Amino acid sequence: MTFARIAGTGSYLPDNIVTNRDLEQKVETSDQWIRERTGIEQRHIALPGQSTVDLAEQAALKAIEAAGIETTDIDLIVFATTTPDKVFPSCACILQARLGIQGCPAFDIQAVCSGFVYSLATAEKFIRTGSSKKALVIGAEVFSRILNWEDRTTCVLFGDGAGAVVLEASEETGILSTHLHADGRYEELLHVPCGIANDFDAVKAGQAFVEMKGNEVFKVAVNTLGRIVDETLEANQMQKSEIDWLVPHQANLRIIAATARKLDMPMDQVVVTVNRHGNTSAASIPLALDEAVRDGRIQRGQVVLLEAFGGGFTWGSALLRY
Ligand code: COA
Repeated sequence: MTFARIAGTGSYLPDNIVTNRDLEQKVETSDQWIRERTGIEQRHIALPGQSTVDLAEQAALKAIEAAGIETTDIDLIVFATTTPDKVFPSCACILQARLGIQGCPAFDIQAVCSGFVYSLATAEKFIRTGSSKKALVIGAEVFSRILNWEDRTTCVLFGDGAGAVVLEASEETGILSTHLHADGRYEELLHVPCGIANDFDAVKAGQAFVEMKGNEVFKVAVNTLGRIVDETLEANQMQKSEIDWLVPHQANLRIIAATARKLDMPMDQVVVTVNRHGNTSAASIPLALDEAVRDGRIQRGQVVLLEAFGGGFTWGSALLRY
């Protein structure tokens, strides 16, 4: 049986750091409120000339190097983003050209904060069915561009960044299972209410901003993530105690802690970056994964649970043996 195994990880954060104290100067908020309600202390924000693909390229090169392969070995690119460089072509195609690769399939996936898990699950299926041998899976965002910097209920929460993995076909176990879900009835709890085909004038006026009913999103997120943990364990006939690491989407420390409690998992088995990165949407999981792989916390052979929840609503998980 062919598995899809993570061969290498990489990530990139823009140099520019914005602290809670910096935000106190822009909106009526406080470092204490942001820390207590979200766990966030700072976030990285791309400079005006930096695009999603710029961040992704750096992350991709690191993942390719870590995997010990050449860029030309890549035969599939799946790119998760909500903040693409262009309406078209896709970020995946733009990145493909930057990496000097031609011919392989390359496409974007839009599932907001669940985008990386959706992309990983998609690439895994290409590998399992033999269509791909080495896939580059990216999550990259410049979410700062769709924030209203005068809205304290959203602008304090998000950040920019990119993460990548190389997935390769292997006889050794890698991804054990993936679980994807969506429920479009929740569209208006978390959205940017305009786009190319709807109120394009707002887009042109530079007012395509995230709107969120935060406390309602919070409740659904906690319940939904609890359910997906059960679904994932049951599908693999695994006990909670068999999971070595939780690498959650980094939206809010309180949501992350609730999922860890559901797994009876101490927080030192949970990879947390939300304090330093904020919510980087599709980039948050590969950023956290790369950090824990590079600092030696996540070791080969260990069992890792990835889970995410985001606009749509979309949600999903991936259980893997690293
Ligand atoms: N600074 C200070 N006060 C703020 C604030 C800020 N940045 N943002 C909101 N407030 C105020 C609100 O106006 C409200 O004031 P009121 O009581 O006078 O009306 C109060 O703080 C509480 O607001 P509420 O929204 O109920 O707070 P909360 O405890 O739910 O925390 C979030 C807000 C956004 C941090 C939290 O709901 C959350 O994280 N939700 C999920 C977000 C998420 O995960 N989104 C992405 C999914 S991928």
